[in-house]
Amino acid sequence: MIFRQLFDGLSCTYTYILGNEGTGEALIIDPVLEKTERYIQLLDELGLKLLKAIDTHLHADHITALGALRDRLGCITVMGGQSAVDMVSMRLDDGDVIEFGNIPLRALHTPGHTDCSYCFLMADRVFTGDTLLIRGTGRTDFQNGDPEAGYHSIFAKLLTLPGDTLVYPGHDYKGDTLSTIAEEKAHNPRLQVSGAKEYAAIMNNLHLPDPKMMDVAVAANLTIGASVFDPMVEENTLCVAEARRYLEKDGALFIDLREAPEHRKAGVIPGSLHAPYAELSGHIQPGGMLRELAARSAKTMILYCAYGERSALALRAAKDAGMENVRHLGGGFDAWTSAGAPSAKH
Ligand SMILES: [Fe+2]
Repeated sequence: MIFRQLFDGLSCTYTYILGNEGTGEALIIDPVLEKTERYIQLLDELGLKLLKAIDTHLHADHITALGALRDRLGCITVMGGQSAVDMVSMRLDDGDVIEFGNIPLRALHTPGHTDCSYCFLMADRVFTGDTLLIRGTGRTDFQNGDPEAGYHSIFAKLLTLPGDTLVYPGHDYKGDTLSTIAEEKAHNPRLQVSGAKEYAAIMNNLHLPDPKMMDVAVAANLTIGASVFDPMVEENTLCVAEARRYLEKDGALFIDLREAPEHRKAGVIPGSLHAPYAELSGHIQPGGMLRELAARSAKTMILYCAYGERSALALRAAKDAGMENVRHLGGGFDAWTSAGAPSAKH
């Protein structure tokens, strides 16, 4: 396992790169827009391909690099299902597992700092975002923050982890880099309380000024999906009704780009073939599965994923690779099921 903790001095944000030496695949947690070039250079130097960019929550103090990394590297963007962001590739629920070689990341929904806050537990460590900081906790006075929910998230989901679990926070303003659950339980002044009410009283009396970049950062972080769509993508986007007509006439090959845990949980469009987005580049090259299927069939190939982001990126890559008669489902499987279109168990 390759592990890097990177720091943005302006917002005091920690960003984490996790790399799998065996597969050469990488994840990044809480990347900062201004550091995008640095991440790309470092990933390149370490020989890593970025698979997923994850934000622990909707940030108010810096602009996320999720959109920039997706646009530059074609990675999958990931946030919690509660996030108000306009588009990400994958939305998580409490307990969901992000498969990453043989060391999975478990998503823990930890509302409090914001309602969309998640922590990520991986083997001996937990990435706590702003839910739990070193000798502190994230403020709870904006973005649907809730100090009592924060208390329960911290005490029920984090402090119940083994004491030697390493705590890697989303920020530090004093220069500390990591802690442990036992250390925070014993020495974090905010956690020396008798219950949720006492914790809420502390949090409601912090009287902190708004983060300097708040208005700019929140607005930017809510609209990271916009750049996925260009005229070519728009032209080749099918709405649910159009895609459904293809299904009824058996006129399309539906390609599901999601990962196995996603379609196991949500279901699939009947008759879909499965080609996870992470393996796309092999599938669209000459000799690749999708390339060959498209060449041998008169049917339109319709790419789909959870929300339409991966399929838009895949559509662009497929067209760039010279594939024709490929389209994608706008809004993805989420829009499909919301419209009452038929689904099947995988
Ligand atoms: Fe935050």
